[in-house]
This record gives sequence, structure tokens and C-alpha cells, in this order.
Amino acid sequence: MSSITGKKIIVVGGSSGIGFGVAAAALERGAEVVIAGRSSDRLKAAEIRLAEAGRVTGIAADMANEADVARLFDAVGAFDHLVATAGTPPPNDPIGETDMDFVRGFVDGKLIGAVMLAKHAVRTLNKGGSMIFTSGINKDRPPVPGGSVVSAVAGSFSYFARALALELAPTRVNIVSPGWVDTEMWDEIVGAAKTGYFNEMGARIPAGRIARPADIAPAYLYLMQNAFMTGETIHIDGGQRLV
Ligand SMILES: NC(=O)c1ccc[n+]([C@@H]2O[C@H](COP(=O)([O-])OP(=O)(O)OC[C@H]3O[C@@H](n4cnc5c(N)ncnc54)[C@H](OP(=O)(O)O)[C@@H]3O)[C@@H](O)[C@H]2O)c1
Repeated sequence: MSSITGKKIIVVGGSSGIGFGVAAAALERGAEVVIAGRSSDRLKAAEIRLAEAGRVTGIAADMANEADVARLFDAVGAFDHLVATAGTPPPNDPIGETDMDFVRGFVDGKLIGAVMLAKHAVRTLNKGGSMIFTSGINKDRPPVPGGSVVSAVAGSFSYFARALALELAPTRVNIVSPGWVDTEMWDEIVGAAKTGYFNEMGARIPAGRIARPADIAPAYLYLMQNAFMTGETIHIDGGQRLV
């Protein structure tokens, strides 16, 4: 396994949740980390929380906006690993009530955004580097009703990575697919009902509890460090796909 000490890592979505966990874990191992997200306030707050762990910089960028994405990579210059965890709450209406503007916004922010990140990352990604995108349990256990769009988008990432891994070789491209993780996104989606959802699901899954971002971060670190992993999807869900 190669080390990430001294490597430069961009975490798009690093101001919160899973991305924040990846940023913290990478800093602890001596990497230099750039976190990106839309809100400058959220980035500043995250930078303050992460600063003790190492060298971290926040850059405001919306991955649904190509000019922002281009500016992000121009500002960072040469780097070693791209991690994309950014995402927003998915559409969850029954198909007959689908709000198409909301669906387009979700797909833009997640899938089109990933394509734009890859397009611009190749300009400055160092030899030996990698890209890691984030999928999720919704492709395996779609919420019913209302899970079709998020399932389709999350499911597409494995195929995106397989094709890109071939096209960009020897640059490696991989996916992390988490189960439920206790992050700020859940506060936005279900608010105070979060504890009830987590208690119920935590009791059902083999791991016996819902993940924290720190449980998921090692999967990203492993994919950065193992030079033989490419075109692959790592499921890290405490056995949630089994129940
Ligand atoms: N939490 C779970 O249970 C879970 C399970 C499986 C998969 N996932 C997936 O994992 C990803 C991360 O989830 P999370 O729970 O960590 O969410 P989170 O805590 O809400 O964090 C999302 C991060 O993405 C950023 N972001 C959102 N839209 C962006 C955009 N267009 N451009 C740049 N940055 C953007 C946010 O910052 P700004 O809002 O400031 O932009 C924030 O830093 C999501 O795609 C989610 O679907 C989550």
C-alpha cells in the first residue's frame, strides 16, 4: 500500500458528513486536504474544526456549475486524489408525482457534477493518483415508494467508474457505496425523527448500529492507497444489504 502522507487530496463535499470524515482521516495521516462545497460559511466552520489535524484549505465551488469546477482545479493545481462525496437529499415522491425540476437539480448536483469533476480533474491529477466517487445503499435497497431516481443515479456510479478506469488507466477510479451514515443530511431529510429511524435500522443490521462518518472514511483511504484497486465498488454498510 502506498502512503498518503504528503499527498494532496481534494474532497468535494468535505464541509459535512462523510466528506468531513474523509478529510479528517486524511489529515490525520499527513495528507494536505482541500475541501470544497457550495457554502463558504460551512467551509469556514469545517476548516476551523479540521485545522488542528493538519493543513486544510476550503474552496467554494458548486459541482453542478462547470465554471466553478474548472476554477476549483485551477486554484488547487497538481494534486493526487479526488474524493467526491457531495450530494443533496434525493427526490422521494411516488413516480406519478415527480417534480422534474427537483429531479434535474439532483441529477445535476450528483451525476452530471461527477462527470464535470472527472473532466476537469484529469488536467492536473498527478500520475499514480485516483478518483473516488460516492454511491449508496439506495441502489440496493430502494426506498418504496419514491426510490427510483436515487436508485438509478446511485446505481450508475459503478458503471461510470468501470468505464473511466479503462479510459484513464493507469489513473484509478473507484466507488464507495455506504449504508446509512449519521450525517447532517439526515437532519435535513427527517429532522427529529432521525433517532427513531436509526434505532430501528441499527437493530436490524448485522453491525448493530448506524455508521458514523469515521466508520466509512477508511474505505476511501484504502482506495487511495491500494495501487491495485480500480474500476471497483466497495460496499461499506454494516451488512445492511443483507437484511
Ligand atoms: N448519509 C447517508 O446515510 C448516506 C448513505 C449512502 C450514500 N450517501 C451519499 O453520500 C453523499 C454524502 O452524504 P452526506 O450524508 O455526507 O451528506 P451531507 O452531510 O449533507 O454533506 C454533503 C456535502 O456535499 C456538499 N455539497 C452538496 N451539494 C454540492 C454541490 N452541488 N457542489 C459542491 N458541494 C456540494 C455540502 O456542502 P454545501 O451544502 O455547502 O454545498 C456538504 O459538504 C451523498 O451523495 C449521499 O447521497 C449518504
